[in-house]
Amino acid sequence: MRPLIPTGTLTENPRRVLVTGASGLVGSALVTELERCGWTVFRLVRHAPRMAREIQWCAGRARFPEGVSVDAVVHLAGENLAAGRWTDARKKAIRESRITFTRALVIDLGQQTQPPRVWVNASAVGFYGDRGEEILDETSGGGAGFLAEVCAAWEKEARVAETWGARVVRLRTGMVLSAEGGALAKLRPVFRLGLGGRLGNGRQWMSWIALSDLVGVVELALRDGRFAGPVNATAPEPVTNAVFTRALARALHRPAMLPVPSWVLNLVFGEMAEATLLASTRAVPARLEAWNYPFRCRRIEDALREVTGV
Ligand SMILES: NC(=O)c1ccc[n+]([C@@H]2O[C@H](COP(=O)([O-])OP(=O)(O)OC[C@H]3O[C@@H](n4cnc5c(N)ncnc54)[C@H](OP(=O)(O)O)[C@@H]3O)[C@@H](O)[C@H]2O)c1
Repeated sequence: MRPLIPTGTLTENPRRVLVTGASGLVGSALVTELERCGWTVFRLVRHAPRMAREIQWCAGRARFPEGVSVDAVVHLAGENLAAGRWTDARKKAIRESRITFTRALVIDLGQQTQPPRVWVNASAVGFYGDRGEEILDETSGGGAGFLAEVCAAWEKEARVAETWGARVVRLRTGMVLSAEGGALAKLRPVFRLGLGGRLGNGRQWMSWIALSDLVGVVELALRDGRFAGPVNATAPEPVTNAVFTRALARALHRPAMLPVPSWVLNLVFGEMAEATLLASTRAVPARLEAWNYPFRCRRIEDALREVTGV
């Protein structure tokens, strides 16, 4: 294995971290890992607190308690993009839960006596939009369309934390692969029944990352002063949808003979299908690679082995 990032470069060591979206797929795995690594984790929640270190907060309606000081924030909260068709109401909820929410949280925490020094913000490879065969690293420009615009505006709000000197990391995350949820949890039963198949022509590129790698990236981003600005949180080897489909079928020992035509996806999922299932985004983790991030899953086969357990 290649060497880990040398410890001498770990320039910051905050120990109290606020996590938003802590109940989600990424957040719940992250909180477990951060606590295992000795972090004191506060969770920002919408509901009345049910356990220690839960802080109820709602954009525009409550102030963050002055008595709770955190060194860092991992901001993951946002309406699930795949929860349903993107009606006007869903698009408004997706936008507000990211842009309005982030703006309010940054302003609120910026008014603390000691604002957080590190801000790790979720974003997505959706930032780059539908780009065909183009290889996209962190120097690539943003794309067009609803998702790309939301990601750009979301990142812009997070960057306001730079005005008080916070180190802001914008994680452009690919499709997160986990047995616990997300896209794979939805696909697996379909493939197990032998009903899987490529989506559309299968030539669209998919950027993905194993959940275990993403959790490691976030934990490192909190500690390592080199993480600042955009970081593609994706595995080094993106795949086309056809390759992904074949690999998943192989991992589950099932055939994948039933392609789903684009028009069916468009009919069922509308704009969401175009922007997520059929869009081609070939993002590569140029910065993580330059820093020798020790990916557990570099190839799709590694990730599927890890998450399907076969
Ligand atoms: N999973 C992926 O493949 C993927 C890929 C790229 C980027 N991302 C981004 O990474 C972040 C974490 O992803 P995830 O898969 O863990 O998401 P997730 O499982 O859908 O969890 C979302 C979290 O956000 C909270 N939330 C939902 N709607 C909210 C709202 N209107 N206001 C405030 N909080 C709200 C939820 O809290 P409640 O418990 O209160 O509902 C939950 O904790 C998301 O922002 C997502 O866009 C994910």
